[in-house]
Amino acid sequence: GTVVLSYSGGLDTSCILVWLKEQCYDVIAFMANIGQNEDFEAARNKAESLGAKKVFIEDLRTEFVEDFIWPAIQANAVYEDRYLLGTALARPCIARRQVEIARREGAHFVSHGATGKGNDQIRFELTCYTLYPEVKIIAPWRIPEFYNRFRGRTDLMEYAQKNGIPVPVTPQAPWSMDANLMHISYESGILENPKIHAPADLYLMTKNPEDSPSIPDVLEIEFKNGMPVKVTNVKEGTSKDSPLDIFSYLNEIGGKHGIGRIDIVENRFIGMKSRGIYETPGGTILINAHLDIETFTMDKEVRRIKQGLGVKFSELVYNGFWYSPECDFVRHCIAKSQENVEGKVQLSLFKGQIYILGRESAKSLYNEELVSMDIQGDYDPCDASGFIRINAVRLREHHRLQGFSSTK
Ligand code: ARG
Ligand code: SIN
Repeated sequence: GTVVLSYSGGLDTSCILVWLKEQCYDVIAFMANIGQNEDFEAARNKAESLGAKKVFIEDLRTEFVEDFIWPAIQANAVYEDRYLLGTALARPCIARRQVEIARREGAHFVSHGATGKGNDQIRFELTCYTLYPEVKIIAPWRIPEFYNRFRGRTDLMEYAQKNGIPVPVTPQAPWSMDANLMHISYESGILENPKIHAPADLYLMTKNPEDSPSIPDVLEIEFKNGMPVKVTNVKEGTSKDSPLDIFSYLNEIGGKHGIGRIDIVENRFIGMKSRGIYETPGGTILINAHLDIETFTMDKEVRRIKQGLGVKFSELVYNGFWYSPECDFVRHCIAKSQENVEGKVQLSLFKGQIYILGRESAKSLYNEELVSMDIQGDYDPCDASGFIRINAVRLREHHRLQGFSSTK
């Protein structure tokens, strides 16, 4: 049969490619360009030289931003209060195109290089099964004949040497990375000891705030429907207005100011805790700006419900349920809540921090006259006395009961 392999160009998936051929599959290599820094033509040549029947390199950057990152910004999606989900958002985007290719090419199999202990296998495969129910998945890192043969990097290197797979010349970083437009993640290797600090040279997207400029950049970000439509560098007078340009610019300028680094221990869906380091410059700026314009324009009670949906959405995305009825439902509710989330936020970036400076919106519920200390507005202060006394009814009753039951 024919298998479409999610190929990265690295040692692992190169060995998988050759191993699949050994198992008598015709292999189609699939590479998604989701904004990682990669020499795609070199990877194409490598896959071809290893015997891939076809190689597909697909530029998914714009759809990644529009279909996955923007909904995450609308949701203020943050997993376990800190992780902005860069890898989790990319997986359904990549797998969606992979099964599309598999269908088109008449391939009954898809394959990937995710390990049997992680989240990525789940995200990848749930997407494949949903969008291509008949598909058969080959996950070599869960097949004993594969993982017993390749017990570590040295086994992979040896196999590579024997099979004409170019072996990496530059020494491998002592951790594993996953890079896309949204973020770079770092885990495993020396980072598995959660006490060990990340070395200063680990970060590739952001400058160390200690070495970042001592003059801030000031940005204005304009939102419509809770999505950024324009970003302007106020001092330079330059601006961007396509989704990919906006997000890439925010990564660049956020990186320059050391924005969006975190070092966390998180709970994997599988049940274990893992230590991860992430840098998400553009996403961090956008969530901060979005939160500001959202609170400025959204009804208080709607916001509370929507906030809970955002937490649910984050869990669903993390666990791989992007394509599920519940995630679809939650996404639609969140999108509905964003109808009036529009306006402009000004902020400055400085030494790893985002400082909100001001905001304006034609759809704001902010009423300057109503809230002013200097103007009475359409409001009678006497009413507040009753409001407070009524609220005190319940508190007094509770305290009365406490008074009887306490030993004091
Ligand atoms: N722990 C993060 C997540 O589950 C990052 C996973 C990184 N994946 C990788 N293949 N290196 O989303
Ligand atoms: C992997 O196991 O392939 C990477 C980590 C993860 O998916 O959580």
